[in-house]
Amino acid sequence: MLILGIETSCDETSVALIEDSGRILSNVIASSAEAHALYGGVVPEVAARAHLENLPGTFEQALKAAGVTLGDVSLVGATAGPGLIGALLVGFSAAKALAFARGVPLVTVNHLEGHLFSPYLRAGGDPARPVRYPFHGLVVSGGHAELVRVEDGRIVPIARTRDDAPGEAFDKVARRAGLGYPGGPVIDRIAARGDGARFPLPVGRPGDGTDDFSFSGLKTAMLREFEKRGVTGEKVDPDALSRDHVDLFASFQRAIVTALLERVETVHAREGIRTLALSGGVAANSELRATLSAWGEERGVEVLLPDRALTSDNAAMIAWAASLRFRREGPTAFRDANARSRWPLGQPAA
Ligand code: KG4
Ligand code: ZN
Repeated sequence: MLILGIETSCDETSVALIEDSGRILSNVIASSAEAHALYGGVVPEVAARAHLENLPGTFEQALKAAGVTLGDVSLVGATAGPGLIGALLVGFSAAKALAFARGVPLVTVNHLEGHLFSPYLRAGGDPARPVRYPFHGLVVSGGHAELVRVEDGRIVPIARTRDDAPGEAFDKVARRAGLGYPGGPVIDRIAARGDGARFPLPVGRPGDGTDDFSFSGLKTAMLREFEKRGVTGEKVDPDALSRDHVDLFASFQRAIVTALLERVETVHAREGIRTLALSGGVAANSELRATLSAWGEERGVEVLLPDRALTSDNAAMIAWAASLRFRREGPTAFRDANARSRWPLGQPAA
């Protein structure tokens, strides 16, 4: 079975072809991040137009790289939400039209569910690792922080962010410090040479007894530090920062990693995590990967880290989630197949 995946929920246009074993034949990604860098964040209208321009070429390239034709495709999976509605509509409408025209089934995919199962995929052309339920998933990206328990056929939400997502905090802090967009990779690099224990920063908790995350207090604390230190947001060279600033960014990253680890630990103490699958753009973060791996070894928990090439938005993870969902519940009816900007993880597809 050959699955075609399409992803256009944010600033990456991606088309992939995978086998139902999870073996990735092609996973082509065209990013419009450069067009947004000027604004310090994704501009929805710019993203939607870029998808429209990039999708045909991305599609052709994906087929060519996989060495297949459209006639070989037996299932189409596309991101239907959550995300920017104008952006989603470009890829999703194309997917719906393709499935309809070819007479093959369509599966609408929740973007977060795509991330959630991505640690099982292997970038090197091997079949996916076997998925054993239940497992816990931590999805951390530019738009989300979600800790869930995944049972066979059911996703149970445990914690989510009340305000900013961790990637959003990285991006906003970087923008205000003149480090450009996206902020995660550059802060990750800076933090590697800093002392993360130097500055005490708030590790936010909503304070209502839930396991939810909160990152806006940390972001505000950083903005206050910037004011105090005369950081204006003017473009700076990340390699030429003062020791103080390097340590400040390292402490900021440490605060985010600590908040995530704390919640994972709480949930482990309560429900006994056997497998933790980390995913989303922030799963590329070196300190988060190292910290969770070390924690897993200590606790005897299997920690699955996604291949770095599969942490950011890509269509292979969408095709894979489509394949898993299709095996469980079959196709999405065409009349129910619609894109939506809001779609909480664990809610039904239609
Ligand atoms: O999953 P993703 O590609 O898009 C969303 O669905 O949001 O995640 C993008 C986010 C951005 O906020 C980016 O700054 C962050 O992931 N990110 C990182 C790193 N690489 C990307 N954050 C921390 N450390 C990184 N190395
Ligand atoms: Zn994403």
